[in-house]
Amino acid sequence: MKPIRKAVFPVAGLGTRFLPATKAVPKEMMAVVDRPLIQYAVDEAREAGIEQMIFVTGRGKSAIEDHFDIAYELEATMTARGKDMSALAGTRLTPGNCAYVRQQEPLGLGHAIWCARDIVGDEPFAIFLPDEMMHGSPGCMKQMVDAYQQVGGNMISVLEVPHEKVSSYGVIDPGERKGSLTEVKGLVEKPEVADAPSNLIVSGRYILQPEVMRVLETQQAGAGGEIQLTDAMAKMIGEQPFHAHTFDGKRYDCGSKSGFIQANLALAMERDDMKDEIRAFAIDLLN
Ligand code: UTP
Repeated sequence: MKPIRKAVFPVAGLGTRFLPATKAVPKEMMAVVDRPLIQYAVDEAREAGIEQMIFVTGRGKSAIEDHFDIAYELEATMTARGKDMSALAGTRLTPGNCAYVRQQEPLGLGHAIWCARDIVGDEPFAIFLPDEMMHGSPGCMKQMVDAYQQVGGNMISVLEVPHEKVSSYGVIDPGERKGSLTEVKGLVEKPEVADAPSNLIVSGRYILQPEVMRVLETQQAGAGGEIQLTDAMAKMIGEQPFHAHTFDGKRYDCGSKSGFIQANLALAMERDDMKDEIRAFAIDLLN
């Protein structure tokens, strides 16, 4: 079985749910405590043994490239002044382990992934939606890669939501469950509540076989007029093994305002340098 060496980070979306914050700042650069969302995703990929990070960007997203580059003036000035540089750890990607490709129009997640086809080549690869923050140890992708080594094929991360909320997500039709893995019998993007085959939603992490690129090649627009990754994946069920993995950890939907605030609060409460102050403030606020 080929190892998962490459990850695609689609970051070309418009982030309309977060306007006006995302008018000039990419959604993926919004910080949870002091690290941008995209940095958490890259750290999670590294932990899972992934070597090459492929970013699908768009106009107005150059802050992401700058974030992972050398910040010459900043680093030189901090060094000259004897400042602690440890906060910058992990923020530099070398040309050998990152690549950027442009999605010229935000035609949907499926289209964004297809834009990376030449760099992905003929090997299985991971996908990270950086606005879904997966918090736990080991990280979500590390857990998935470990499970993938047992079963191969395609794998998506899933989680349970209240049934009435399924219409905003990709939903799986679940088969047999063994431990953290559930067989996937079908997939549907943004179903009506009454038609949803379960309340297990696809949650921002994928391991896919390269054949998905060929399916995406001819994929028509689906829900919301966008080229949907879910529709392309659905066509691969039955052709290759397909499993859903339930993450042992917490997920924050940082593409939504309340999920983003929750992530900030939860992670701040875990930080030794600020948890007492934040807890006292939260109690005071609630009172
Ligand atoms: P989302 O649907 O959450 O992002 O896509 P969005 O479209 O930017 O957000 P809203 O709904 O307008 O607020 C999930 C991920 O896929 C990327 C986004 O950047 C995000 O990381 N994406 C989405 C693309 O790269 N291209 C697209 O055409 C659509």
